[in-house]
Amino acid sequence: METKQLLSGFKEVFGKDGERVFFSPGRINLIGEHTDYNGGKVFPCAITMGTYAVVSMREDQSVAAYSANFPDDGIMHFDLTNIAYKKADKWTNYLKGMTQYIQENYGSLPNGFNIYINGNIPNGASLSSSASLELLTGVVIREVFHLDIEQLDLVKLGMKTENEFMGLNSGILDQFAVGMAKKSHAMLLDTNTLEYEQVPVDLPEHKILIMNSMTRRELVDSEYNLRRSQCEEALEQLQTVLEISSLGELSEQEFEENKHVIGEDVLVRRAKHAVYENKRTERAADALKSGDLKTFGQLMNESHTSLHEDYEVTVKETDLLVKLAWKQPGVVGARMTGGGFGGCCIAIVEQDAVENFIEQVEKAYEEEIGHPGEVYIAETADGTKEWDLV
Ligand code: GLA
Repeated sequence: METKQLLSGFKEVFGKDGERVFFSPGRINLIGEHTDYNGGKVFPCAITMGTYAVVSMREDQSVAAYSANFPDDGIMHFDLTNIAYKKADKWTNYLKGMTQYIQENYGSLPNGFNIYINGNIPNGASLSSSASLELLTGVVIREVFHLDIEQLDLVKLGMKTENEFMGLNSGILDQFAVGMAKKSHAMLLDTNTLEYEQVPVDLPEHKILIMNSMTRRELVDSEYNLRRSQCEEALEQLQTVLEISSLGELSEQEFEENKHVIGEDVLVRRAKHAVYENKRTERAADALKSGDLKTFGQLMNESHTSLHEDYEVTVKETDLLVKLAWKQPGVVGARMTGGGFGGCCIAIVEQDAVENFIEQVEKAYEEEIGHPGEVYIAETADGTKEWDLV
């Protein structure tokens, strides 16, 4: 998106000039799904699809927020001295949560601000539009009020906004990816210790494609919270025989030797996914480091199968996209990405095969599902930051 376009959008809405411009990316997770609340590894990168903000200061205590993605909402306001979650406040709740937690930790802000938001991450597409907005708000506030806050602390406040303000018991994957990313790299993050490594994603002859199913199931949040509590239940039962504090500490063999203590079959399958996916993620990062894309792709495929069979977070649309991808020439691997229940899948495809891939997958998907899906080429990006105006 052009800075000029953003600044003129701001002026049209607020009737004056915007002062500063910020960008916060979305993310894809290459592998390591539903491991982040199980003390496991994840391997995401940020993408150039993201959320932009133009900001100017106000003299009163109000935050005035406008989103070009929800023009019907008009300018929404909230008061810095009285912030609480309200369903009717829709997307501004993400801004409210971040603002509130920053004030709680770093002191009351002296005055409010105007913020114009414009994003190109499709909503509900499992590309972290909400984490993108959370980190955007955090970085805006830090920069315009000159606060001394580490990026990692904003990441944590973003997760807190999700967990405590919005009520989704998600892990740290999304906020970490959005906040800490480095262009041309994926982060191998240990969600137990928050240690991480930036691994170059150097694919001169391949592209990473995002396949959007353009569907999202109802009840995603409650299904998500249920998966998390099932893993916790399985862990508790394993703790009767093993000294562990998360499923991420187990090898596949230790899991197989002890899984009989988990009562229900469904809990065994949930825990199995968490344990195996964690190990797959470690192997996948090693494979990428040594240039073994073939192994990386196979691990992506196994990840999808496990999310389908054991974790049961895929739906017919995402299963179809992955199945179609697997059939195309030049495909290295494909899987769903993000929380599941619709949203997006990713595929790594040989550059020369990309055009044909997009055509074939889009055509076959629409024929079978009855509405179109969309395929985009993903480009990696840096984490949330201010943009130079020159
Ligand atoms: C959502 C959550 C993340 C993570 C993924 C699944 O994106 O917000 O914390 O659990 O699902 O890997």
